Amino acid sequence: MKKIAVLTSGGDAPGMNAAVRAVVRYGVRHGLEVIGVRRGYSGLIDGDFVKLEYKDVAGITEKGGTILRTSRCEEFKTEEGRELAAKQIKKHGIEGLVVIGGEGSLTGAHLLYEEHKIPVVGIPATIDNDIGLTDMCIGVDTCLNTVMDAVQKLKDTASSHERAFIVEVMGRHSGYIALMAGLVTGAEAIIVPEIPVDYSQLADRILEERRRGKINSIIIVAEGAASAYTVARHLEYRIGYETRITILGHVQRGGSPTAFDRRLALSMGVEAVDALLDGEVDVMIALQGNKLVRVPIMEALSTKKTIDKKLYEIAYMLS
Ligand code: F6P
Repeated sequence: MKKIAVLTSGGDAPGMNAAVRAVVRYGVRHGLEVIGVRRGYSGLIDGDFVKLEYKDVAGITEKGGTILRTSRCEEFKTEEGRELAAKQIKKHGIEGLVVIGGEGSLTGAHLLYEEHKIPVVGIPATIDNDIGLTDMCIGVDTCLNTVMDAVQKLKDTASSHERAFIVEVMGRHSGYIALMAGLVTGAEAIIVPEIPVDYSQLADRILEERRRGKINSIIIVAEGAASAYTVARHLEYRIGYETRITILGHVQRGGSPTAFDRRLALSMGVEAVDALLDGEVDVMIALQGNKLVRVPIMEALSTKKTIDKKLYEIAYMLS
């Protein structure tokens, strides 16, 4: 193998750049030419390629986002689109492709292998942490720290005004961000798509906490469960005191990656190149316990990630 390519696809995640840096530098050290594909699968179809030298990835470990830029490419969801992409790969003599992204991106990588035998290796990178068989995806830890910091700031003003704050976080269909952020900030309530919500019970709990002397209430809601406005409508008349809404939105996707995410991304980037060099393809690099392993992409994507119900109960008990 002499020439590989790397791309970032789907929603960006802090740490993607560290993974790109590892693929480039480890690849170059192993005598490979490494091509960066700009704008994810859209750039792959367009042949928007740039040769990446060792120096081109200097200083990017600490940068959020992705220097290659990314996209959500509708065309790549079609066989014709993937055909065009495969043609570009073959035309440029690319012998292996590292895809850094979430569920949709990894599905696309698998289809490139299945339909065109392009040797692919996936690296899970999404703040949603909704990919099976891996304990963590790149970007999750940084996102959680961003949400934690924002909620701590909200607690200051919530206490000053004795208000309830409803904080909507991302996660698509996963409640992972909401659960972890609620746990580490001592939120009174955590609303996730995986567990039905009873607003009367929730209101009773918040009122009980107030009676016990709490002067602020933090309710964290995952976007896949409900909007913050919906939660406010259900709660306001039941608890009878001021509420305010904060929708954290895309701030959760930015920021300099934490040490955890940098380590995860750098080690996954190296492992992905090793997998290509070993000829082990159509696999995703996964973190299991404290080890990196290689799992078939479709096995990872077909393994549903459930929420840790025990942790959910602990979060309530400790709040
Ligand atoms: O998948 C990551 C994610 O941030 C989701 O949590 C969120 O719902 C979605 O992307 C937002 O997509 P976009 O960046 O295209 O608005």
